[in-house]
Amino acid sequence: MRIIGQDDIPASEITPREVYLKRRQFMAGIAALAVSPAFAAAAPPVRGARLAGVKPGRFSTREAQTPYESVTTYNNFYEFGTGKFDPAENAHTLKTRPWTVSVEGEIKRPRLYDIDELLKLAPLEERVYRLRCVEGWSMVIPWVGFPLAELIRRVEPSGNARFVEFHTLHDPAQMPFQRSSVLDWPYVEGLRIDEANHPLTLLAVGLYGEVLPRQNGAPVRLVVPWKYGFKSAKSIVKIRFVEKPPLTAWMRAAPNEYGFFSNVNPKVDHPRWSQAKERRIGEFFKRDTLMFNGYADQVAHLYRGLDLRKFF
Ligand code: MTE
Repeated sequence: MRIIGQDDIPASEITPREVYLKRRQFMAGIAALAVSPAFAAAAPPVRGARLAGVKPGRFSTREAQTPYESVTTYNNFYEFGTGKFDPAENAHTLKTRPWTVSVEGEIKRPRLYDIDELLKLAPLEERVYRLRCVEGWSMVIPWVGFPLAELIRRVEPSGNARFVEFHTLHDPAQMPFQRSSVLDWPYVEGLRIDEANHPLTLLAVGLYGEVLPRQNGAPVRLVVPWKYGFKSAKSIVKIRFVEKPPLTAWMRAAPNEYGFFSNVNPKVDHPRWSQAKERRIGEFFKRDTLMFNGYADQVAHLYRGLDLRKFF
C-alpha cells in the first residue's frame, strides 16, 4: 500500500523500501514456516473464545488453510502501524466492548446495533475464502460470519440506496497510528449495493471458529473475497447506504492507484507492480492470480459490459 504525505515517518519507512519489503517478506516466510509443533509449544498464540453454533457455509474452498499463526500475525491494519507485524503487537489497545454499529442513510429502518445483538442477527457460518492482498500475497482463511445481505434485508434500503459505505472506528486513543497522516482517517470503504448484497459478501465476526482477533478487525469486519483485501474494512462502526459512489480512504490517498471496484484481476496491473502472480503465505513458489480471485463463476455477471481496465 502507499504512504502519502506523512509527517510521522515510521522507522520501517526510513529503510529503503525495497530492502524493507524484502526483509518483511523473508520474515513472513519464517513466520509462516515456523508452525512446527515445537515452535507452537514454545510460543503458543493467545486464542480467542470459541463461537457457538457455527455451521459450514457455502462457497468454501478446499485449499489448504493458512495456519492460524500466520493469519493472526501477518496483517495490514494501518491504524496500528504499517509493518506487517505491528497490528498483532499493538492492537491490544482496541476495546471491542461496548461496541455499536450504526446502520443509516437511505434505508427505512435506521438502527444502532449493539455488537452482541448483531452477532445474533443471523446463523453464523464458516466460509473458507481466499484473501488476495493488492501487495501480492494471499492466504486461505476460515472466516466465521453471516452474509451482509441478511443485515441489508432487515434495514430495507430505499430506491436511492445505490452504494454502501463502511467506516472503521476513529479513535486515536485506541488506534495509535491514527495520529499519523498515513491515511485520511477514518478508514472508509465502499461497495455497490449489488456487490454488498452478493451471497459471497460477509460480515465476519470470527476466524478458525473463534472470536475475531483484534488485529484481524474485531469485533466485526467486511470480507469481500473477489476484491483486493483492502476492500475488506476492519473494526466497522458505521454502515451507510448512499446514492453516490463513496470516496474510499485509498482512492482519496492515491486515485491513480486504487479504483472503486478493486476486483482481483491478473490482467490489470497496479501502476507500481504486476498483479499476474501472487505468493500464498507459507509457499515458496508464486502461483498465478485468478480472475476475481477464483470467484468468477459467482461474480463475473455483476460486471458484464464494464471495461475493467477503466473501472479498476
Ligand atoms: N481495514 C482497516 N480499518 N485498516 C486497514 O489498514 N487493511 C486492509 C484490510 N482492511 C486495513 C483494513 C488490507 S490492505 C488487507 S490486505 C486486509 O485488511 C488484511 O486483512 P487481514 O490482516 O485480516 O489478513
